[in-house]
Amino acid sequence: MISQLPDSLNLGLAVPAAAIALEAGLLLHDFHERGVRTEYKGDVDLVTEADRASEKLIVEKLRETFPNHGIYGEEGTRALLDAEYRWYVDPLDGTTNFAHGFPYFCVSLGLEHRRPGLRQDEDGEIIAGVIYQPVYNELFVAEKGSGAYLNGRQLQVSKTAHLQEALLATGFPSHKRHENPNIHFYQQLTLRSHGVRRAGAAALDLAYTAAGRFDGYWEFNLNPWDTAAGVLMVTEAGGTMTGFEGTPFKLESREILATNGLLLPELSQFFEDMFAGRDIEPVPTPAEFAARRKARAG
Ligand code: IPD
Ligand code: CA
Ligand code: CA
Repeated sequence: MISQLPDSLNLGLAVPAAAIALEAGLLLHDFHERGVRTEYKGDVDLVTEADRASEKLIVEKLRETFPNHGIYGEEGTRALLDAEYRWYVDPLDGTTNFAHGFPYFCVSLGLEHRRPGLRQDEDGEIIAGVIYQPVYNELFVAEKGSGAYLNGRQLQVSKTAHLQEALLATGFPSHKRHENPNIHFYQQLTLRSHGVRRAGAAALDLAYTAAGRFDGYWEFNLNPWDTAAGVLMVTEAGGTMTGFEGTPFKLESREILATNGLLLPELSQFFEDMFAGRDIEPVPTPAEFAARRKARAG
């Protein structure tokens, strides 16, 4: 699989990272087949032994391969954070799916280059990203300036030009009891598009947007380990990564909007209108809904 990667990935970063992601993915695949023990991180946030084992493996391999690089991992690794290069590691994106045996999960590794002199709160440049989905054996790899690839084939975002013809994706955090307004956006965009998939792994949603399977993707409240690799995947495939109203993406941006570029004006206008309280349809009562259905039928 690594041998399918093109020579144009010449920074020497994504290819070794892909080998590490493949190994971690195989480990997840094993757990997936055998079944895992599940625990809770908070009241509803799941973590499994597979999340921890995968992070341990990735951290060991990254340290062997890139001893001077920093690592920022979801399951707690914080190492060499003042280094010039920093890996954002999601050892298992889609834990809830994984815990239920639903085969939509992945490993995600994104690399930030922080040139010397950057302030702590300033972003470096994301220069490499790898996302591996072990069940379908899909390896997404990108390097800054060299394109994004799926199993060696170069990726291009979709050409869908209108929201009403688009297939979109979004996600919801596991902290369901915490306030998250996304359900309103989900409802409105479902009504205005071919549909919104809520498949449960942010990094894969971004990789699928890069591959043109989704025309756009948005989510509230993500972390850099969810986004770092996928953001590069989308931009290297010709798409856009911004905040909801088109503002530039930052690693600390919790709210993100990925598009194929063509949909950015329509989607950012939609978000602006929603936040301004314009254009929101009131939810019908069950009686109103039944009356509308009858009227349509007949
Ligand atoms: C979650 C998934 C999910 C997204 C959540 C993330 P995890 O990551 O990416 O799709 O909606 O916001 O926290 O916890 O499975 O790594
Ligand atoms: Ca995640
Ligand atoms: Ca995770």
